[in-house]
Amino acid sequence: MRFRTPLIALALAFTFATAAYAQPVAQTPPMGWNSWNYFAGKVDDPGIRAAADQIVATGMKDAGYIYVNIDDTWEGPRDANGKITTNSKFPDMKALADYVHSKGLKIGIYSGPGNKTCAGFPASLGHEQQDADSYADWGIDYLKYDLCSFREDVMAKEPDHAAQMRLMIDAYDKMSKALKSASARTGRPIVLSLCQYGWDAVWEWAPALGGNLWRTTGDIQPRWQSIYDIVSEQSGLESYAGPGHWNDPDMLEVGNGKLTLAENRSHFSWWAILAAPLLAGNDLPNMKPEIKAILTNKDVIAINQDALGKQGKRAYSDGEVEVWTRELQGGALAVAIVNVGSDRNSTHPFHLNLGKLGLGATQSGKDLWTGKQVSLTDNEPIELASHDVLLVRIDHPAHAK
Ligand code: GAL
Repeated sequence: MRFRTPLIALALAFTFATAAYAQPVAQTPPMGWNSWNYFAGKVDDPGIRAAADQIVATGMKDAGYIYVNIDDTWEGPRDANGKITTNSKFPDMKALADYVHSKGLKIGIYSGPGNKTCAGFPASLGHEQQDADSYADWGIDYLKYDLCSFREDVMAKEPDHAAQMRLMIDAYDKMSKALKSASARTGRPIVLSLCQYGWDAVWEWAPALGGNLWRTTGDIQPRWQSIYDIVSEQSGLESYAGPGHWNDPDMLEVGNGKLTLAENRSHFSWWAILAAPLLAGNDLPNMKPEIKAILTNKDVIAINQDALGKQGKRAYSDGEVEVWTRELQGGALAVAIVNVGSDRNSTHPFHLNLGKLGLGATQSGKDLWTGKQVSLTDNEPIELASHDVLLVRIDHPAHAK
């Protein structure tokens, strides 16, 4: 098609770009992989390409993992015009983004509002629009924006705590606006992930400034205690999550450290119940089959990605057993029963109380880790190994009268 004047062509290009930007992002919790939890500062261009290859080869892409996210340590110095460069580990970011896109995946990057990232690399203070434009030009789809040195560089210079918090919120707002303006130009939306460890009840203000997800806690570690502590902090945050804006209890440690299979299952089940972003953080080229089976369990992912977008909650606990539930579309319900204690629950078996879940009678459902049909009966004893989980989807719950 030929346009009579370049002006009309320009106007149409702008309209298409704006329309494309208006495409909603993160309508379900973002899924993908991030380099930090396993590779930390060792991430590089070949490692990102290998991760993208593996996401396709292992079936993770088909299971919904789409974002391949580069975390900290990609950054080089700014050039004479203040434009951010990449360091020698990432020779050509645009070529890398093209490669990831060629696999049908999306690519994420990392920066922060301070002078420096947490690992001491250049961050975006004073260069927000310039950086957002660079990301857009490279074809970036996702930005994790980590507070890091903004605390010392900017906030600490202000004695008043409330004023410090306003500075922080303004900094996130500034990058959000910069990304929107860059995206409007290219037509490629960029997911904004806030990382400031849950300060100042971030869940109350992040959605309004365009945050698609926000970390609710400090860094996760591949240890049961870390996972359990983080999960315990999520209770009460459920009303803040919904399509387009999610609580982020941090990236997955499934397959990392010395987590047992039971612990990996519980971790993944909780992230499903919590409608948490599913960003795997393991060594994909060396992933064991049993870890792949956890990360690609389609039934569990379906709980996480449920279109209703309602975050689940801890319904009740009894001794060292916790019962979590999540309401799903069509009236279905997910129930996760987790033995958070360090012993097998055998001498004092846990008895399920369906009344506390608003349920009556016997419920039929599917055990999502064995794939078998099961029934849950009121007061039935349930024995779980230490740190293991029973995750059941009940499509037609029989509610208490
Ligand atoms: C931390 C952040 C981690 C990782 C790290 C990189 O602040 O919580 O997820 O991004 O910085 O330096």
